[in-house]
Amino acid sequence: MRAALEISVIGCGYVGLVTGACLAGIGHRVVCTDNDESKIATLQAGQLPIFEPHLDALVDRSRKAGRLRFTGDVADCINAGEAIFICVGTPPLETGEADLSAIDRVARTIATVAKAPKLVVEKSTVPVQTGQQLKQALAIYGRNSGVTFRVASNPEFLREGTAVGDFLHPDRIVVGVEEAAAERQLREIYRPVLEGGFECPVHAGKCPAGSPSQFLVTTINSAELIKHASNSFLAMKISYANLIADLCERLGANVDEVTRAVGLDPRIGPHFLRPGLGFGGFCLPKDIQAFIHLGEKAGVDFAMLKEAERINKQRVDAFLEKLRRALWVLKEKQIGVLGLAFKPDTDDIRFAPAIELIRRLLAERAQVCAYDPQAIEKTRAVFSEVRYAKDGYEVAEQADALLITTEWKEFRELDWRRIFKSMARPLVLDGRNLLDPARMKEIGFEYHSVGRPD
Ligand code: UDX
Repeated sequence: MRAALEISVIGCGYVGLVTGACLAGIGHRVVCTDNDESKIATLQAGQLPIFEPHLDALVDRSRKAGRLRFTGDVADCINAGEAIFICVGTPPLETGEADLSAIDRVARTIATVAKAPKLVVEKSTVPVQTGQQLKQALAIYGRNSGVTFRVASNPEFLREGTAVGDFLHPDRIVVGVEEAAAERQLREIYRPVLEGGFECPVHAGKCPAGSPSQFLVTTINSAELIKHASNSFLAMKISYANLIADLCERLGANVDEVTRAVGLDPRIGPHFLRPGLGFGGFCLPKDIQAFIHLGEKAGVDFAMLKEAERINKQRVDAFLEKLRRALWVLKEKQIGVLGLAFKPDTDDIRFAPAIELIRRLLAERAQVCAYDPQAIEKTRAVFSEVRYAKDGYEVAEQADALLITTEWKEFRELDWRRIFKSMARPLVLDGRNLLDPARMKEIGFEYHSVGRPD
């Protein structure tokens, strides 16, 4: 029987909740806190502030087993754990730089309220050298308590929509440490993940035999850099695929065929080559910006990343241009939008291309009706002038155009013949290459996707 460790998690955003629930799910005793009282109240009432597959069951199971609790009392949380995972947000400032004020605040709080030695682990995505600052803040603000702190960086690579599986079956666990004791503690925390044998909420006990997770020990600076370097590379890959798609459109090739063949080269790999409306969400757009700033500060020319970001920002423009070419005038046209979340299987609309698209459509006085399986409530708070439908069929009714902006599986499975009959004009613009062009044409649609022949 493995020894359960006591762990504190500060910040109940996406990463914090998944980290807390998964660490409890693999057997540790976890206490989570957040400075947003309403979030804690929601969690204490047994509800989740986000939609993420498998997370509710995992939280529920761990709470009932007494391994997971939520508290609004930060001192209670800090003193409950021998290791403290900092999972607070690092949102972009106006300049694109990461706002580290929440990390700074948490460091000062830990330093002043901790009554025993702690391993302080950065999970939030932070620029290189944040660990040094964190260490300094803990030492200075905690100088009178006699308590000692170790600092480690342990970046999280989970994706929204598959977060629980990603946490429990990672390709790599990166730990940036300065002392062997910190490495030992983190290895102990992740032992169940590395050795298996926990009750997996995703695979119901039959986890597929994949490659084992790598436990990588690095310096703190390297660990911090790895996260930004990974996300920025993924962003570049997507922007590259989008340029190839544009070229395919202009010159009459098919991007599906091209990226499939390109991706079969193991040096390139098949993932993150899907063209469309571009990357959104709370990680890739802000991380690439923060990395650009970091490069500039360090005197490294990151023009390559700036270009990837610029290409991404143009995706919505290009899509709207296609819509204008088809509809001529947008004013007073009824536009159906299928998908609000930045990707499927989440209700997260932060930096979602669909949100930017709707903003532009409304600015041109189009009438927008939208549907998303999970993200309507969050979007309602942003746009009150949008009409929200109960399903994909209602969105299509009497629409002059239907835009596919998130690749939910549910949209692929719609009865497209029925939709064809109900639209005022059977025009579909597929911003995620979700549907089969030949089938759409056979039904009779005017169908445009990205980088594929119409
Ligand atoms: C990302 C990283 O993948 C993850 O490792 C990190 O921990 C957090 O940031 P996430 O933001 O959940 O995860 O989404 P991801 O799956 O990376 O997709 C980001 C965006 O890129 C989405 O808007 C998605 O639609 C878009 N995308 C992805 C593409 O446009 N094309 C692709 O081929 C892949």
